[in-house]
Amino acid sequence: ENPIVVAIDGPAGSGKSSVSKQVARRLGYGFLDTGAAYRALAWFALERGVDTADAASVEALATDFDYAISLDPDDFWVRVGSTDVTSAIREVRVTDAVSGVARVPAVRESVNRLFRALVAASGRPGVVVEGRDITTVVAPDAPARILLTAAPEVRAARRSKELVTQDAATVADALRRRDASDSAVVDFLTAAPGVTVVDSTDLDFEQTVDAVLGVIRTVV
Ligand code: C5P
Repeated sequence: ENPIVVAIDGPAGSGKSSVSKQVARRLGYGFLDTGAAYRALAWFALERGVDTADAASVEALATDFDYAISLDPDDFWVRVGSTDVTSAIREVRVTDAVSGVARVPAVRESVNRLFRALVAASGRPGVVVEGRDITTVVAPDAPARILLTAAPEVRAARRSKELVTQDAATVADALRRRDASDSAVVDFLTAAPGVTVVDSTDLDFEQTVDAVLGVIRTVV
């Protein structure tokens, strides 16, 4: 039997990854961070010196892209070939390049195929899949679909706390730019029909986890 999919979309700084991971732990589900796949390809492009603004080069690179992602919320890792890139994919240079690779339709199709295969082979009763187009493209039929949002100032403040090396204005600016270029590819700021919005602006981490679990329990 196919695992139950919990689809969670939202912008950067909404708390999506950490909340999804914790929800997966609480349910005994797998956790799939789809942004990590796009980040891994962006890392690979930088490594190979491929211009991420050039769609044809990115598409060619994607055919030669050998990567693996853990679905274990307690042991998360990402590998490209035999290189562990779990922390490298969070570097600012990767974050700045990622929208460029995520924009390429052939890239999206090929990572989406991998996501569906990973979920099917997870061996778990369910998988929390988080990203930008999970509720709409990757798993539009998932029983639980959630859009996790937060006010832009709050998202920028959360990101700024993580990125201690950059000043708040730089972080807010980079977030705004990435939101804008990501929005051109998929609309992750408005909820599609049937998708439940959880606004974490005034919630702390545990409250957000509980709100998401509350939504899931009404349907699963
Ligand atoms: O979630 P995260 O910030 O790690 O995602 C990194 C990037 O990957 C996003 O800025 C976006 O360009 C891309 N992405 C996407 N579709 C997804 C998940 C991520 O286009 N489902």
